[in-house]
Parts: sequence; structure tokens; C-alpha cells
Amino acid sequence: MSWERKHLLDIYSLSSEEILTVLDTAKGFKQVGLRSIKKVPALRGKTVVNLFAEPSTRTRISFELAAQRLTADIVNFTAEASSFKKGETLKDTVKNLEALSADILIIRHSSAGAAHFVSRVVNASVINAGDGAHSHPTQALLDLYTMREHKGDLRGKCVTILGDILFSRVARSNIWGLQKLGAKVTLCGPPTLVPKSLESMGCRVTYDLKDAISNADIINLLRIQHERQKRSMFPSLSEYTKLFGLNQERLSWARPDALIMHPGPINRGVELDSEIADSNRSVIMDQVANGLAIRMAVLFLVNGGNHLDDSSGGEGES
Ligand code: CP
Repeated sequence: MSWERKHLLDIYSLSSEEILTVLDTAKGFKQVGLRSIKKVPALRGKTVVNLFAEPSTRTRISFELAAQRLTADIVNFTAEASSFKKGETLKDTVKNLEALSADILIIRHSSAGAAHFVSRVVNASVINAGDGAHSHPTQALLDLYTMREHKGDLRGKCVTILGDILFSRVARSNIWGLQKLGAKVTLCGPPTLVPKSLESMGCRVTYDLKDAISNADIINLLRIQHERQKRSMFPSLSEYTKLFGLNQERLSWARPDALIMHPGPINRGVELDSEIADSNRSVIMDQVANGLAIRMAVLFLVNGGNHLDDSSGGEGES
């Protein structure tokens, strides 16, 4: 058991022991999710605020469900319907939420560093749910959990991340997390989206799709992050698909047991064909399901939880 942190702001600063603590804690919470009564009182009396200033389906809803399953009070803050629209600053917003008794602030924001900034101006715990192209730690944790569930120990495993790496917080968080757990990471995509300089993160970079996937244990696909691109990074989506889209023919280059992953949302027919996304090679829905257990574990740990046993009394059944 290794966790003393009040916040979860990125993956880079976590040790491999801390990552494994989150994954082991999530394993316990996944079991809780199999009970007829899926709630434990670990966060009873605590207030959690979901402050999402960017769109989200998976992350926002799984944090909401996670807080409910831990018996916390959860409030959803939607930027479009808030006083952000009247010019209120992020600092004033979070100070007001804290004055309303928020114990844990979960924040998604388009600016890299937003969660780190908030952690310096409030006393509440802060969880980064995605900040610009910087970090998405709970996505990396649920990806690592899903990979280990299917492939066991990740030491020496080959993981290829394919797509828009430059603008992807998921890619950065996955790279750090995978390397901390001993996996070998290959990056592939158009040179404008996968600069050679990413080799300085300890990854292999290739622009040859066959080379990228032929030895992979896991292929993690990413969508094109149009919302963060200020100019066109390649001639057209159809050209991207022609060169880097994963279809059945190209998947035959990969090992038969290579896992297909994607953090979502998927742009079907662009980075990934529907028949692969919906095939038994794909663990995309496992990723979504595991996100709930991971987010329960993170809420539990930043609130000072030490042992899952602490949370199991009361409402559950063993
Ligand atoms: N993977 C992910 O972060 O999805 P959402 O944007 O729907 O939360």
C-alpha cells in the first residue's frame, strides 16, 4: 500500500508503487460492483464537485457514479450554465465551490496546468480529469488496469499508440504510466502529429504502420483532436484513414492476440473500422467499465483511504 497524496494531478509524478496501489484498490472496488448492493460508505458526508469546462461522456459520468457508489454527495458543474459565462475566473469559481463545502474537486479544462493551478488555491483535494494536451491520469490508470487484466504483468510488453499523439493528453499519460510499469512504447502516425522529438520520452517513433503494429501486444488508437489543432495537420481525413486507419486488412499484420484499445470517443471509419471496434479483439467497453472502479479507487485514496476494508462495512454484502 503506497499512497499519501491529497491530489491526483498527473501520472508523471506517481511512482510505480503508487500506480499499482490505485490498480489494486480498483480491483477491490470492481468486486464491490458485482454485489447486489453496489454502495460502500467510504465517502459518506463528503461533497464531490464534477467541474467540467470541456465536453465529456465517459469521464464525467463514471466519476459521478463512482462518487455515488462511495456514498458521497456529488454536484455536477456545467461551464455553459455557470457564471463562467459572466466572466467569473477559475480561481473565484473554485473558491466559491469550496465555500459551499466541496471536499474533492474533479476538474476538466482546456488549459494545460488548470488542475495544478486549482490545487494551489483551494484546500480541497483536486483530481485532474483532463487538462488541455497535458494529462489525463485516470484514463491512463484505467488503460493500464485493462491491459494488465488481459495481458498480466506489463514488463517487456510492446504497446503501440497510433494516431494524434501531439495533441493527446491520453498519449502522454499512457506513455509515462506504461514506462513506469516496464512496457515498451511505440508511437505511430503522420509526422506532423508524431514528431521525432517524442523519442526523448523514451519511445520508439515510426511512420510505418506495418512496422508499428506487427510486434505489438496492445494497439491503442487515438482520435484526431481537432478541437486542439489551430491549423490543418494533414491534407484530409480520408488521406489520414488511407495511411493510418486500422482496418481488417491491416490488422492481419498484427499478432492474432494483439488487443485493440481506444479511450473514446471513436471516430468510426477514420482511425478505426467499426467491425474491429465491435469485434472480440476490442476491449474498448472493458476500458469504460474499468473506469468506474479506477475512479472509485482514486476518490477513495485522495480522501485518505488506506485499506479497502475500511470502506466495506455497512451497506454492502460480501
Ligand atoms: N476518454 C475520455 O476522456 O472520454 P470523455 O471525453 O467522454 O470523458
